[in-house]
Amino acid sequence: MWWIFSLRRGLDFGNRPVADIAARSKVELFTSKAQVVCVMSSARATDQRLIRRILRVNHAGEHGAVSIYSAQLLHLGSRHADLKAWLAETLGHERAHRSAFRDAMPKRAAKPCRALGVWSVGGWVLGCLTALLGRTGVLACTAAVERTVHGHLQEQIAYLRRRDGDLAALVERIQTEELSHLVYAETNLGPSGPSPLLQGAVGAATEILIAISTRGDSIRLRRTLREHR
Ligand SMILES: [Fe+2]
Ligand SMILES: [Fe+2]
Repeated sequence: MWWIFSLRRGLDFGNRPVADIAARSKVELFTSKAQVVCVMSSARATDQRLIRRILRVNHAGEHGAVSIYSAQLLHLGSRHADLKAWLAETLGHERAHRSAFRDAMPKRAAKPCRALGVWSVGGWVLGCLTALLGRTGVLACTAAVERTVHGHLQEQIAYLRRRDGDLAALVERIQTEELSHLVYAETNLGPSGPSPLLQGAVGAATEILIAISTRGDSIRLRRTLREHR
């Protein structure tokens, strides 16, 4: 209590006047609070930027999936009726995913990727080529695409859970459907599956398409999300 009394009287406190110490403490407290606020708001800005990039990459990826499945549905031979029925259902899922990511953009000030045309053309070419290879080509493509998408979404969910619960829930819901596409493709490919060459080529084409359509942002985004875990 004596120091409160001293403070009121303006008495010396050690080598410095009490009022001076109190004033300096207030300034230091204010400065450190301001620093904390600055750090917090800069962290929030970084999070918001990353969330916008996640939405842009995901929307572009879903746009590509729509192109791939549309081309496969059109060019796959009529003797694969069961696979065509599944492709039609899956195309419906991918369209719904694309809309869901697009709808989530305005609230977060995100905009679609400007290179969506790359995905339209690239996805269509990939879909046509794999449809020409028949059942194995289509399923190998689905497995490669869905495996890639599943990996991207898994990292995003871990990041989003503590930052944007609504978007994390949306990505989780979509990931469940992507996983069902992957399981269908792997189950129907059978234990031997496609040749490693075909699998590797389709997987690489998918990654390249995602990277080109997002101007390399998909690769940088994965790296950043791992750093922010
Ligand atoms: Fe999807
Ligand atoms: Fe999918």
